[in-house]
Formats: sequence, C-alpha cells, structure tokens
Amino acid sequence: MGQRLRGAAVNQTEVASALRGAGCVWAEEEAGLLIESATSDEDLARRTRRRAGGEPLELVLGWAAFRGLRIGVEPGVFIPRRRTELLAGQAVRHASRAPAPVVVELCCGAAAISCAVLHEAPGPVELHAADIDPAAAACARRNLGGRGQVHTGDLFTALPARLRGRVDVLVANVPYVPTAELEFLPGEARDFDPAHTLDGGDDGLTVYRRLIDGAAGWLAPGGQVMCEISRAQLPAAVGHMITHGLIAETRHDEEIEARVVIGTRPAPAPR
Ligand SMILES: C[S@@+](CC[C@H](N)C(=O)[O-])C[C@H]1O[C@@H](n2cnc3c(N)ncnc32)[C@H](O)[C@@H]1O
Repeated sequence: MGQRLRGAAVNQTEVASALRGAGCVWAEEEAGLLIESATSDEDLARRTRRRAGGEPLELVLGWAAFRGLRIGVEPGVFIPRRRTELLAGQAVRHASRAPAPVVVELCCGAAAISCAVLHEAPGPVELHAADIDPAAAACARRNLGGRGQVHTGDLFTALPARLRGRVDVLVANVPYVPTAELEFLPGEARDFDPAHTLDGGDDGLTVYRRLIDGAAGWLAPGGQVMCEISRAQLPAAVGHMITHGLIAETRHDEEIEARVVIGTRPAPAPR
C-alpha cells in the first residue's frame, strides 16, 4: 500500500519524526510499518496520530507479529507478546512428536499460539481454542479461519467432553499478574489490555492453579500442560504440578524474559 502514497520518502521522515517526538523508541521501523499499512495519506495521518497518542502499534496496524506470522488483533482482546513465543515453541515441539496430535489452547485470546502450532507442526493437528471472553473467541475464530474449533467458556467447561483423556498438548497463557502489581505495568498494557486478561489474583496463580487442578483429567498419557509464568512464581507453579502427579520441567529465554513451566502426565509403564 505504501507505494500508493504520495511522497513516501517524505512521509517516512515526517512520520518517524512525529513518533520520535512522542517517545517511540523504534520510530523509523514503526513509521515503515504504518506507511505499509496505510490506505491513503489521510489514513496514514490518522494512524500516526493514534500511535503518537500512545495506542499500541499492534492495534494501530491491526496485527501483532508472532513467530513470523501476523496475528489479527482488535481492541479489548489481549495483544500477543513476543515473550509468549517461547511457550508457543514448546507447544509446537510436543505437538510434533505425535502423528495427529490433539492440541488445546485455553485462555486463547487472539489464538496466536494456536496459529503458530498449525503453521509449524509437520502434520495434521486437531485443534481446539477457548476463551472465557466472547470477544476473544470471535477474534480467535477469525484468525483460525476454520482450521480449528473455537469454544467460549471458563477453562475446561468450554471443551467438548469427548476430549477428556485425549489431549496431547494443553497450552495456556493464563492471566498471571498479581492483582497488586497491575498498577505498575507499562501504560500500554494497563490502558489497552483489559484487566481480566492480566489479573491472576493475589499471587498471580489463581487461574493457573485451577488449570493444573483439572489438567490431568484431560491429558492423554504422555500429554503435556504448559504455561508462561514469572520467575518469582516458578517454585510455586512447579510445586503445584508435582502435587497433581505431573512431571514438572521449566524452560526459559532470558533474551525475551520468558519462563515456561511444563507438566507431563506420566505414561503407564510397559508391561
Ligand atoms: C494473558 S491473556 C493471553 C491470551 C493469548 N493466549 C496470548 O498469549 O496472546 C489471558 C486470556 O485468558 C482469558 N481468560 C481469563 N480468565 C479465563 C478463564 N477463567 N477461562 C478462560 N479464559 C480466561 C482472557 O480473556 C485472556 O484472553
């Protein structure tokens, strides 16, 4: 679309300068993306004003970059974070071990993790994504475009009963910010991600514990449940998995400040 605009080089300089003035660290890069997505000079001016006014770049563009994909986003639905690429990578890894895995993403938001799994898994996947928020479920449905089933409801209540004991990968980026820490989040998260997408209760692990409490009943033998978590939460998160008979492991990537906890339902020993 950028070529359709008049004087793209002038636009690039002007847009970058407006963004820099508003405190955007990656002003040049963002200016290029805004120019690429704008449909007219007026549209570019509107988008530049929105971004300079503090709206997250992803909402202004209408998509978030995630593991090389562009995931559609919209106001009121959690914006997928680069940090969550570690969790998605673990889901892809385990899904790739089974010939036709059943993959469930709870707390799916825009379904970035599901899209990554479908894109990267080597073979067919039976995919189910679910969220308690109908707006998120609708956004997930659009992003998946019929390549999986999307359900609405509170954690496992959203899922068809026939999945019990059959899930190979149960992945969930649950809300995990302790309630008292919400006010200290960066402005973009505080102002544009609704509280129910972030708030994990007193210690941030309220939804996580409910997820792990139910996980074993849905996992296939050898199946894995996996979540993103903060560094401080790791000991409690691992401990909770162990009390539920899961074999717990952790993964981290300091570059993107990501931590993931993984619980495997033990497979019965061969007779
Ligand atoms: C941190 S966001 C993650 C969204 C998405 N998985 C991602 O990483 O971009 C948490 C999501 O969990 C959903 N959620 C919160 N409580 C839930 C519950 N009890 N059952 C299902 N979904 C829930 C929110 O609506 C939100 O979309």
